[in-house]
Amino acid sequence: MISPSRSKTWQKLASHYLNLHHNGTTISKLCKKDAQRFENHQVKIDGVLLDYSKNFVTPQTFSLLRELAKEAKLTDAIRAMFRGDKLNLSEDRAVLHVALRTPLKDADPRYNAEVNACLERMSDFVTKVHEGLWSGYSGLPIKNIVNIGIGGSDLGPAMVYAALQRWKVPHIDTHFVSNLDPAHMHECIDGLDPASTLFIVTSKSFKTLETRQNAELARKWFLNCGGSQEHLDKHFIAVTSNIEKACEFGIAQENIFPMWDWVGGRYSLWSAVGLSIALGLGMETFKQLLHGARIVDEHFRDAPLEANIPVIMGLQAVWYSDFVGANSQVVLPYSQELALFPAFLQQLEMESLGKSVELDGSRLLVPSGPIVWGSAGTNGQHSFHQFLHQGTHYIPADFIGVVAPPYPDDADQHTQLLANCFSQSQALMDGKSQKEAFHELVSQGMDEAQAYQLAKHKVIAGNKPSNTLLLDSLCPQTLGSLVAIYEHKVFVESVIWNINAFDQWGVELGKQLGEKLYTALSSADKCAAFDPSTNGLINYCRTKND
Ligand code: F6P
Repeated sequence: MISPSRSKTWQKLASHYLNLHHNGTTISKLCKKDAQRFENHQVKIDGVLLDYSKNFVTPQTFSLLRELAKEAKLTDAIRAMFRGDKLNLSEDRAVLHVALRTPLKDADPRYNAEVNACLERMSDFVTKVHEGLWSGYSGLPIKNIVNIGIGGSDLGPAMVYAALQRWKVPHIDTHFVSNLDPAHMHECIDGLDPASTLFIVTSKSFKTLETRQNAELARKWFLNCGGSQEHLDKHFIAVTSNIEKACEFGIAQENIFPMWDWVGGRYSLWSAVGLSIALGLGMETFKQLLHGARIVDEHFRDAPLEANIPVIMGLQAVWYSDFVGANSQVVLPYSQELALFPAFLQQLEMESLGKSVELDGSRLLVPSGPIVWGSAGTNGQHSFHQFLHQGTHYIPADFIGVVAPPYPDDADQHTQLLANCFSQSQALMDGKSQKEAFHELVSQGMDEAQAYQLAKHKVIAGNKPSNTLLLDSLCPQTLGSLVAIYEHKVFVESVIWNINAFDQWGVELGKQLGEKLYTALSSADKCAAFDPSTNGLINYCRTKND
């Protein structure tokens, strides 16, 4: 792979941006010039439309970005991923979340066999729980499922479960506990009946502090509230690749579902990590989710670069980060059901792209992935959209809209929601000039001197880019597609930046230090082992808790 900033096209893109800037190009002008801009800047796959016409890009921008992709050998990299090459070099692992939803042609057939066996086990287990064949220690059917996990072992399943509540299995409630703060577990279990509660300890490594502590807390609660040691098997199962540690915790080997080292945590909701989804929403829903992702996998693998949704979105992200100077990206699902989607994306994008070295360890000389944030619309319109419209930062936006109303009886309110979604992207693009603001105020009866002054505060610069991803309806299939689009978009970015999107070494230092600080905080002795600030904080807590 070639280092991005050393590629021939890099300089061309940099000068191209300056040209656009100097000749006063704006997204509004590009739209006015081309009545077909929507038709020319959209890609549709089964149930999902990407409209990228409101971007600060011309045909030349895209042609240069595709040239960059060719220099970075993007097509080869895509093939290598589907083949199961060890793309995660720093951990010496293949990257095969695609194998979880696409029977692979080119990869080792072992992957397909393991995936199918796991899906069958999941399916059997879900049937047993749903039909009461797997019951609690007193014979009660399972009514509450608690997934204990964090990061990739929590965010994906929790987001999907929240998004697809209309598919919820009626007699079972599913909960997600992740935070080390015991309040999170208590919020969940206080009030539950241990006799009808099933805990899934989901941890690829089975070493994660939060998950281990919460699993122990849950076990303590179970034993204190009526359960006994010999009943644990009925109430604690695990999803992990560390069978030894799960057994040590006390989970029976036959109750452990597999995780593989060729699936990264943040790409794992398609594996048995999604067991909470299958139990809470049904196995058929889970399979539809896989199907939606598979549609995108095939599209990503086979579509030409110029009509490939993840490629278009990934290249745009590089354009904005490295040439236009954006360091943040807002994600705005106009769907309350997708409220957790930005939080899920934060891990997917920021853990994957938060890297400063290239694959060979040399320093990355250009900015990598942006800060990702956002929340469900319309709520953000009444908090941070002011910042998007009139703030000094340049923030590309991804709007996600849903065409079909989830509640047909309230279709009109849904139409208002969509209108707000489209009006926000329009306002970001067009803005409002001082002249327009002035005339508006005068036509409302304000005197000219006052209008002139106030108009300055009403100027909205505009020319802020956005994509709109429209789901025909929010359903398991389109949600699967949406997630896979972003997974592959992140991959595209990583190939251009020549970084490893599949490791996360940066999280280790905090974990190591945390262990030492825990010892110091638990000790009765005055702490002097660290820097003055850390010592001071530890000693302050010690004296307060005395
Ligand atoms: O600390 C970061 C991380 O390793 C994530 O990458 C991962 O999704 C999360 O912790 C949970 O890890 P595990 O599934 O091994 O408990």
